[in-house]
Amino acid sequence: MDAVDIPLKIENLSVKRSGKIVIKDIDFTINRGDFVGIVGPNGSGKSTLLLTILGLLKPATGKVAIYGAPPQSRELFGRIGWVSQAASNLPKHVRITVRELVELGTLNAKNIFSFENQKRRASVKKAIEMVGLQEAIDVDVSRLSGGQRQRAVIARALASESEFILLDEPLVGIDREARKSLLKLLDQLCHDENKTILMVSHDLTAMRQTAHRMIFLEETIRFDGPTENFPDLDKLADLRGIEPVHEQSCCIEDDSEEEE
Ligand SMILES: Nc1ncnc2c1ncn2[C@@H]1O[C@H](COP(=O)(O)OP(=O)(O)OP(=O)(O)O)[C@@H](O)[C@H]1O
Ligand SMILES: [Mg+2]
Repeated sequence: MDAVDIPLKIENLSVKRSGKIVIKDIDFTINRGDFVGIVGPNGSGKSTLLLTILGLLKPATGKVAIYGAPPQSRELFGRIGWVSQAASNLPKHVRITVRELVELGTLNAKNIFSFENQKRRASVKKAIEMVGLQEAIDVDVSRLSGGQRQRAVIARALASESEFILLDEPLVGIDREARKSLLKLLDQLCHDENKTILMVSHDLTAMRQTAHRMIFLEETIRFDGPTENFPDLDKLADLRGIEPVHEQSCCIEDDSEEEE
């Protein structure tokens, strides 16, 4: 396969923050249509990894290639959608409707609407429908619930028609029903629209149900493989080189309320 067809290829990556190595020896590739989940305890470097993929942090060693190009390359504009960890904490004082927020996704790097008007309106409408917010389209974002706001931010990424979507903890602060519909939506995007998804989450149960492949990151990659091979919590302690003290020796939150 040509490098330009590979959404993400990371080689020998390490990244420092405040002079200290935070992640190291990272190597993995993500192919088109993959749904990859990244899990790991607090402070294990998950957001650092995503910010490096986006080009907001620079590697100390190694490299990141997105569709064969370095992060932030011109040819990548509009091809990558980003839902940040703080997405649902949009500033409260900004008065903006759902439609307007989603429309921002169709702006290009020069802040010029990248599509012609008609196409833009259609893709904004479609994105809002996909996340199930059509009833709230003209509602002020500040009046939405946390889950609705998160979905609005995802709609913004969808409206850009980006092929590769990165999400950092999109499930935080979302109730169970909304979480389910969001995961279903992401799954559909992969299967029906051949989008590529890289999602960071603490919610192991949710990840197990949706991601095709899981990466366990704690400074470096401790596990990378099909979701069905992802180890149970007690085995994770082994991966992390930790002697189990209590049954719950791993600090990942396994949000395994009984599903029906
Ligand atoms: N701006 C920063 N300056 C210096 N160090 C930082 C900065 N942000 C994060 N770090 C450190 O880098 C390490 C990795 O942080 P990171 O935010 O990538 O972890 P994370 O896996 O996303 O955690 P969480 O699950 O809490 O979101 C932590 O030790 C953290 O203290
Ligand atoms: Mg984080």
